[in-house]
Amino acid sequence: MRSIYVVFGLLMISSMIMQCTDGVSSSRDKESALTIDTSAVIAQGNELATRAQSTLLANVSKAMQEGGPVHTIQFCNTAAMSILDSVAGDSNISLGRISDRYRNPLDAPTTANDKTAIEALKNTTPTSSTSIVLGEKDGSVTYYKPIFIGMPTCLKCHGDPESDLSNDTRDILTSLYPQDRATGYKMGEFRGAWKINFLKPE
Ligand code: HEC
Repeated sequence: MRSIYVVFGLLMISSMIMQCTDGVSSSRDKESALTIDTSAVIAQGNELATRAQSTLLANVSKAMQEGGPVHTIQFCNTAAMSILDSVAGDSNISLGRISDRYRNPLDAPTTANDKTAIEALKNTTPTSSTSIVLGEKDGSVTYYKPIFIGMPTCLKCHGDPESDLSNDTRDILTSLYPQDRATGYKMGEFRGAWKINFLKPE
């Protein structure tokens, strides 16, 4: 229930932001945003995000056991995106992650809605079940759910480069992600968001 209120609150905030920055399209955006059945989108988004999270975690845990952080980083570098595509399993749904401090440049926020969602979700806490649904100009809708540094294992690859990462981990990250911004996190910090776009049904 709480997330629905957040959604409506955010839709209002985002249309207010749009009114300040983009007066021409604001009324049209507001109209299309308000016709979204947000509760259905949230239900489907929650289900997919939970499934994506557990699928990825199962793969990461297995890779960590088999070969430690360096092997797991190499595995994530090549497999993370395709694992997430297979969770979506529908050409009308695109599922991925975004972050303001991204490791993979493909996870950079690109749209105005991405930036709105990140700003709004940054101040949420791991215990709240916040999600956001925003309407796109093309009639599709995007669901966002925050991701936090939820377990100590995350710090092995996203924590303090000096005290949490091993030398090997730092080296492989530098070679695979020369622009890496995704270290220096502490437990419980906001790490990014699930982003699930649902194309408008024909
Ligand atoms: C073994 C190292 C490793 C561990 C452990 C790890 N990650 Fe990552 N993480 C990575 C790599 C590598 C990527 C980039 C994947 C890619 O190229 O698609 C990544 C990407 C991400 C992204 C996508 C955004 C971005 O920066 O590109 C998020 C969000 C994320 N990790 C969160 C977490 C969380 C939360 C945990 C703990 C549950 C965790 N990670 C544990 C290595 C790790």
